[in-house]
Amino acid sequence: TKPVTIQTIRDLHRKKIPITMLTAHDFPSASLASAAGMDIILVGDSLAMVSLGMPDTSEVTLDDMILHARSVSRAAGPSFTVGDLPMGCYEVSPEQALQSAIRMVKEGRMQSVKLEGGVECADTIKRITTAGISVCGHVGLTPQRQHALGGFRVQGKTVSAAEKVLADARAVQDAGAFATVLECVPPEIASIITSKLSIPTIGIGAGNGCSGQVLVQMDMLGCRPRGSFLPKFVRQYGDVWERSLAAVEQYRDEVKTRSYPAEQHNYAVDSAVVETFRA
Ligand code: KIV
Ligand code: NA
Repeated sequence: TKPVTIQTIRDLHRKKIPITMLTAHDFPSASLASAAGMDIILVGDSLAMVSLGMPDTSEVTLDDMILHARSVSRAAGPSFTVGDLPMGCYEVSPEQALQSAIRMVKEGRMQSVKLEGGVECADTIKRITTAGISVCGHVGLTPQRQHALGGFRVQGKTVSAAEKVLADARAVQDAGAFATVLECVPPEIASIITSKLSIPTIGIGAGNGCSGQVLVQMDMLGCRPRGSFLPKFVRQYGDVWERSLAAVEQYRDEVKTRSYPAEQHNYAVDSAVVETFRA
């Protein structure tokens, strides 16, 4: 398979073929995403919750992200890779942001970076893209600002709020981003915004009128305890938790009853050796 590049993504967008993006946080999850032919693999800072068990994304560091990004890069295959810049490593100045982006590329081995924010991030995105590093934007609901936004809330539900999301998306585009994530925006608003942009929108909780879709892999695979919270926009395609739990419970039972390991798992030894050894 040919590697997915920025040009491939532009071609898909021009041909109105939906762009597929999925998160990965380590070698196996990236292997899976790549084997399934994802156009883009995102090392999202959602790894803070789904992989590191943190309550939200605010605690994860650039060093954490880089360690995981590097493991993803080893399995990404032809998929294009995007590394999230976590909170705190890009807001201080465009220089700080560029330094972080360079680390994400050189140490994290990512092909591009993603950061959250619109109009206020334009200079930052420009600084990174003019240095030759591709940037994916992220507007609408920006989880790193959850407390300032008053929680995880749908964005763009009023005319002025919709205008703000559009202005943010335009700013990101004009600053040189190759695409932007559009999170938690009503589908009609997301479609209109998509039609007004020249770069692709990658939707999450933003309806099927976006140029592509992204989901958190662990969420869509059903890789967490039954009954745990899943955002409304997630379709659970898999049943990984239930299947894995059943497998580990069976292993437990088979060890307790000595039915594992069985004959076929054993290494042979000459019986003469055993008798002599015993004596
Ligand atoms: O961190 C993440 O996984 C993300 C996607 C949900 C867009 O930013
Ligand atoms: Na993220």
